[in-house]
Amino acid sequence: MKIAIVGATGTSGRATALAAQRAGHEVVALSRASGVDLHTGEGLAQALRGADTVIDTSNAFPASSDTSLVDAFAGATQRLVEASQQAGVQRLVHLSICNIDHPAFDDFDYYLAKRAQEKVLAASSLPHAIIRSAQWMEFALNPTPVTQTETEVKVQDWLIQPIAVDTVAEVLVQAAETPRDRKIAGHEQIRLPELTQAYLHAIGDHRKVTAVAPVVDELTEGIMLAPEDAELLGPTVAQWVAQQSANA
Ligand SMILES: NC(=O)c1ccc[n+]([C@@H]2O[C@H](COP(=O)([O-])OP(=O)(O)OC[C@H]3O[C@@H](n4cnc5c(N)ncnc54)[C@H](OP(=O)(O)O)[C@@H]3O)[C@@H](O)[C@H]2O)c1
Repeated sequence: MKIAIVGATGTSGRATALAAQRAGHEVVALSRASGVDLHTGEGLAQALRGADTVIDTSNAFPASSDTSLVDAFAGATQRLVEASQQAGVQRLVHLSICNIDHPAFDDFDYYLAKRAQEKVLAASSLPHAIIRSAQWMEFALNPTPVTQTETEVKVQDWLIQPIAVDTVAEVLVQAAETPRDRKIAGHEQIRLPELTQAYLHAIGDHRKVTAVAPVVDELTEGIMLAPEDAELLGPTVAQWVAQQSANA
């Protein structure tokens, strides 16, 4: 199958392109680096020509402060849906996040923007699958909850149930083959500062890790843990950390 991966230069997009190639699919890599802009629609129609399926792993932050995050994300998804339909794409697989509809996030712009993308898909007639993932192991150094200086790493105290991005990538490719909505997370609960500490230690970085209060208080209490209907998938945190150490 020919799969167009939007956001193919990003953390999850790179892993998804590799997983799709491993599964024997033809991959077309889309992002601004290859001349495709979800905000303007530039390059989209041409890039989607001949694609059977689109996997959207983009993270299309607005280009200017004139556009809100919600409008930018929803607009990007709307443009992608319309261009996919015009190109005769059969289905779209969208990467989202578990628990974004929790009321604690009603003022949290990023999750409001992710909700808005799901609403665009629900209102469209394009067949689609939404994969809601828990935070990734790679979230250990994500700039939203983690602030770094040369000597110290401050990490928001989120209680999470992380999954490896390589596993997320495999699930996205499976959804391209057999579309169905899925929720996915890892097996173990861990506090983000502990995960960051374990990861940094494994790659020989001995900066001090300090836990700080999260942007939404309830994040310390486990509102991002796997929902009841989530599938729990490996590797374990210890296996992932060992892999990072081997790769360092
Ligand atoms: N981090 C987590 O733990 C987690 C968990 C669950 C779900 N997610 C979701 O996973 C998705 C991907 O996250 P990620 O961390 O893999 O993203 P990322 O590393 O930030 O990469 C974003 C990708 O989007 C592309 N992009 C950005 N703006 C674009 C635009 N205007 N037009 C076309 N392409 C654009 C970027 O390429 P160019 O710069 O070349 O355009 C890049 O390929 C996000 O939607 C996020 O919400 C993340």
